[in-house]
Amino acid sequence: MGVKDGFDERGRRRVVVVVSGGTNGMGRAFALARARAGDSVVALGSDPQKGRRLLDEAEEAGAAGRTEFLRADLSTVSGTREAVARIAAGHDTVDALILCANRQHPRRTVTEEGLERTFALYYLSRHVLGEGLGPQLLRSPSPVIVNVAGVGARAGRVHWDDLRLERRYSTVRAQLQAGRANDLLGVAHAARTGGAVPYVLYHPGFTRSGDLGPLSAPARLLLRVLARIAARPVERSVAPLHGFVDAPPRAPLTAVDRGRTLPLDLPTLDPGNADRLAEVTRALLREVDLGVPGEG
Ligand SMILES: NC(=O)c1ccc[n+]([C@@H]2O[C@H](COP(=O)([O-])OP(=O)(O)OC[C@H]3O[C@@H](n4cnc5c(N)ncnc54)[C@H](OP(=O)(O)O)[C@@H]3O)[C@@H](O)[C@H]2O)c1
Repeated sequence: MGVKDGFDERGRRRVVVVVSGGTNGMGRAFALARARAGDSVVALGSDPQKGRRLLDEAEEAGAAGRTEFLRADLSTVSGTREAVARIAAGHDTVDALILCANRQHPRRTVTEEGLERTFALYYLSRHVLGEGLGPQLLRSPSPVIVNVAGVGARAGRVHWDDLRLERRYSTVRAQLQAGRANDLLGVAHAARTGGAVPYVLYHPGFTRSGDLGPLSAPARLLLRVLARIAARPVERSVAPLHGFVDAPPRAPLTAVDRGRTLPLDLPTLDPGNADRLAEVTRALLREVDLGVPGEG
C-alpha cells in the first residue's frame, strides 16, 4: 500500500509549522528538525542573511521545498500583521505556532509605533501572531501554540503604570516584564478560546543559544563562560517541542518548566491579571492603529 497524501512512511501526519524567531537558536533548530522530518516550515526572522543560511541548510538536508523564510520585523504591530497576512495567503491551515522571537535591548528603545521594543517584540508580537493566525490554526485537526519564554519564574512583573519602562529601564527588567506578560498571554488565550487551540507555555531553561550581539563585550564574555558551564544544549531544550506538536495536550493551557509540568495556580498565572493585560493590550493596539502613543 502506498503512502497516503499528507502522511509520512510511518503514518505520521505531515504538519505546517510556523516558527517566529526560526532563524537562530532554538527556533532554528526546531524549524530545521521539522523540515528534515517532512513538515512544511515557515520561519520568521528580521535578518535576511540568517534566513539565507537557514534555507541553505534546509537545502543540504533535502528539505528546501518545505522550508520558507519570511522576513518580518516582529517588533512592530504592522510588521507582525504583514507576516500574518503573508502566512495566511500561503497556508489555509497552520498546525503549530511556535513563538521564539526575542532580542535583548541594553538601552531602552521605542518602536516607530511608540512602544518599548522588548515589550513589543517579546510579548505583543506573540499576542498578534496567536490571534491573527487563529483561523488557520482552527482548521487544523490538532492545533497548538507553544510560547517559549520563562514560565515558572517569579522574578519581574508587569509594570501596569509604566509599561513602556520610561521611569526605570534595564535589559533584565524589560525581559522579565515581557516574560511575565507572556505567562498572562497563555492564561488569556486559554480563557478566550476555551481550548479550541491548546496553548503551551514552555520554559526551556538556560540554553546554549541566544544572540549575544546586542550586549556589551563583558556581558557577552560572562554569558559565554556561564553557558559553557551551566547551559543546556539547544537540541535538549528543543526536544519537548516535538512532543507538543505531535501530540498537543488536551488542556486549554499547559505550563512546563523544562521537564516539569507546573500547577496553573501560580501567582504569575493569575486570571485577573491576564484579563487586565488583555484589556490593556486591546487599548494599546487601538492606539497603534490610531497612531497615538498613549500613557502606559
Ligand atoms: N537561551 C536561553 O537561555 C533562554 C532561556 C529561557 C528562555 N529563553 C527564551 O527562548 C526563546 C528563544 O531563545 P533563543 O535563545 O533561541 O533566541 P535567539 O537565538 O536569540 O533567537 C532569537 C530569534 O528571534 C529573531 N528576532 C529577533 N528580533 C526580531 C525581530 N525584530 N523580528 C523578527 N524576528 C526577530 C531572531 O532572528 P533575526 O536576528 O533574524 O531577527 C532569531 O531568529 C526566547 O523567547 C527566549 O526568551 C531562552
